[in-house]
Order: sequence, then structure tokens, then C-alpha cells
Amino acid sequence: MKKVLLLGGAGFIGFNIAKYLAEHRHCEITIADNFFRGGGKVDPLLQSFVKEHSVQLVKGDFTQPGAFQQLQRGYDELYMLASVVGVDYVNKMPHEIIRINTALIYNTLEWLREAGCGKVLFTSTSECYAGAVEQFDYPVPTPETVPLTISDIAHPRFTYAVTKMLGESGFINYAEQLGFGCSVVRYHNVYGPRMGFKHVIPHLAQRFHAGENPFKIYGHDQTRSFNFVSDAVRGTVLAMEQGANSEIYHIGSQQEITIEQLVRHAGDIVGFTGEYEYAPTYPGSVSRRCPDISKAQEQLGYEPQVDWKQGLQTTVEWYLDYLANATELHESFYDNKS
Ligand SMILES: NC(=O)c1ccc[n+]([C@@H]2O[C@H](COP(=O)([O-])OP(=O)(O)OC[C@H]3O[C@@H](n4cnc5c(N)ncnc54)[C@H](O)[C@@H]3O)[C@@H](O)[C@H]2O)c1
Repeated sequence: MKKVLLLGGAGFIGFNIAKYLAEHRHCEITIADNFFRGGGKVDPLLQSFVKEHSVQLVKGDFTQPGAFQQLQRGYDELYMLASVVGVDYVNKMPHEIIRINTALIYNTLEWLREAGCGKVLFTSTSECYAGAVEQFDYPVPTPETVPLTISDIAHPRFTYAVTKMLGESGFINYAEQLGFGCSVVRYHNVYGPRMGFKHVIPHLAQRFHAGENPFKIYGHDQTRSFNFVSDAVRGTVLAMEQGANSEIYHIGSQQEITIEQLVRHAGDIVGFTGEYEYAPTYPGSVSRRCPDISKAQEQLGYEPQVDWKQGLQTTVEWYLDYLANATELHESFYDNKS
């Protein structure tokens, strides 16, 4: 039976990959995480999943090389998802983003040197190339061939992208030298139930729930393409299983919409009847983001299936239901808190 390790597998995307693998593949799953997301506590949903599917759960801070001693050797597949994620963290503790994300990448690669692995997949981000689109007018939708660009190396908000660039280069080059397979996926605005509260869609649900009126639309004419989590998961598993060695894939959706479309549709879902008001967005926010996914379509057979309106409805309804029944779980399990 295939042995699969998900490092950072207790998080939003990792947990969904684990569920998909448990349902669609015959494999032995290990989730390794320090539960940073969740403030050190294990989500009850994850607990029951682990029990139901005999998943091995390994708790450890993998910025410490010793934590890897808890793992087996020779996994067939390693999904590398562990990272500190989120604009708030990046702005509040950029030096910690550098330390944690770099240590996670470096320790994992050095452990792989000893432990070996069939194939690894590193999870990267569209943030790595946002500067090229903004500064040099690279095309949108944007393909994988875009040069990675940091427009202001000293600014805290780019620390996350800098560590992801290190990860892309590190995983590809270690894999080439040590002889294991490697794919990289760059995600683009993955969303869905249980994604935390530090993202635009959960924020909208929270603000509608709180009765904001007039309802502010920040950066109304900016565009984004949102990728429902079940599509992102299928794209990731395809990249792991079908991806060519050392290839990078843009995983996302090409349904590019304005923030105004997103907000107004969310308002329709919640039955909002008040006024809308335009407001400026935060500095440095890119005006357009949309991946060119043709490489993933052609090489992997990846095809997003969830229309943005359908995905938004599912997500907003989940959050409204969650907020209506909120207990301390709201803060402890679904927020990205330290
Ligand atoms: N969600 C998105 O839209 C998006 C976009 C681009 C890239 N990504 C990347 O995809 C991956 C998964 O993202 P996500 O949205 O599921 O984030 P997430 O925060 O939900 O998951 C990351 C996981 O890493 C774990 N982790 C953090 N520090 C750790 C440590 N020291 N030791 C062990 N585990 C640790 C966290 O506890 C968490 O469970 C991340 O690497 C992220 O950078 C996500």
C-alpha cells in the first residue's frame, strides 16, 4: 500500500487532500503538524477523521530537525504544505516568517537526503510572480514561465514570497541531485469551508453577519480568480501523481471576477438589502490576478469543476451557519492564531 506523508496536513488544504486520498486512493496516510493553525489544539473534525481512516497523526514543530525522528523512512509521496500563511502574520512578524518557513523547507530537504522518498510536491503561491505582473506588465492570465519578481525586497509583506521562491528552487534542485521526483504547485486564492477567518470570503460572511451597512467594497475594480478547495485538491493530487519531474503547475481557476462582483453576489446570498459603498484597498494589493492553467490542463488533465457562484454560496452558507452557532471553537480551531 502507498505510504503518503502530509507535512502541514492539519491545515485547510492539507486536511482536504488527506480526506480526498482516504476516499479515493488505497494508501496509508500520515499527517505531521504542530497545530500552529488552531493554537496548538487538534480540530475535532480532524480527530474523528484520523480515527475513522486509521491515519497516523504526528505532532511536532518541524522547524526543529529532531521532530523528523518521529517519522518513518521511505514514504512514496510527501506533500509539503507546512508554512506560516497569512497577511497579518507577514506584517506583524516578518522575521518569524523567514525563520519558520525557511527552517521547514531546509529541514525537510535535509531529512529527505537521509530518509528518501518516491516523490515530493511543494506548495507555492502566485505571490512569487505578482511583482512581474505589476512592474513589468506580464500577461494576465499568467503562465508558469513568468519570471519570479520581488518588487521591494525590504518590505515585510514579501517575506512570505521570498521563502516560497526558496522552496521552489530548493525542492526542484534537491530532487534533481538526490534522485526523487518533484512537482511544484502554485495556488491561486483557494477558498472553501473551514479556511480560517483571515481571507476575503470569510471576512465578507463575518461582516454581513455583523450587519455592516453601508457595506464597504474595498478595491471594487480589482480582479481575482477563486479556486474552490475541492478543485485545488484534485489539481494537487494530479500534479503529484501525473506531474512530470521538476515541473511547476499553476493551479487555480480562469474565471476572473471583480471584487465588486464577489461582494454583491455574497450580499445576494445573505439577502442583504442595504447600500454598498466603494473604499480603497490596502497598499500593494495587485490589481489583477488570474492564472493561465493550460499547462495543468494539457499535462495533468486538470479541469476546475466548481463555478465561483456555486463555491461562494457553499462557503458563505457554511460560515453563516458557523457564526450562528459560534462558540470558542471560532477562535481556537478555525482561525490562524499562534
Ligand atoms: N490557501 C491558499 O489560497 C494558498 C495560496 C498559496 C499558497 N498556499 C500554500 O499552501 C500550503 C497550505 O496552505 P493552507 O491554506 O492549507 O494553510 P494552513 O495555514 O491552513 O496550513 C499550513 C499548516 O502548516 C502547519 N505548520 C505551521 N508551522 C509548522 C511547524 N513549525 N511544524 C509543523 N507544521 C507547521 C500549520 O499548523 C498548518 O496546519 C501552505 O504552504 C501555503 O503557503 C496556500
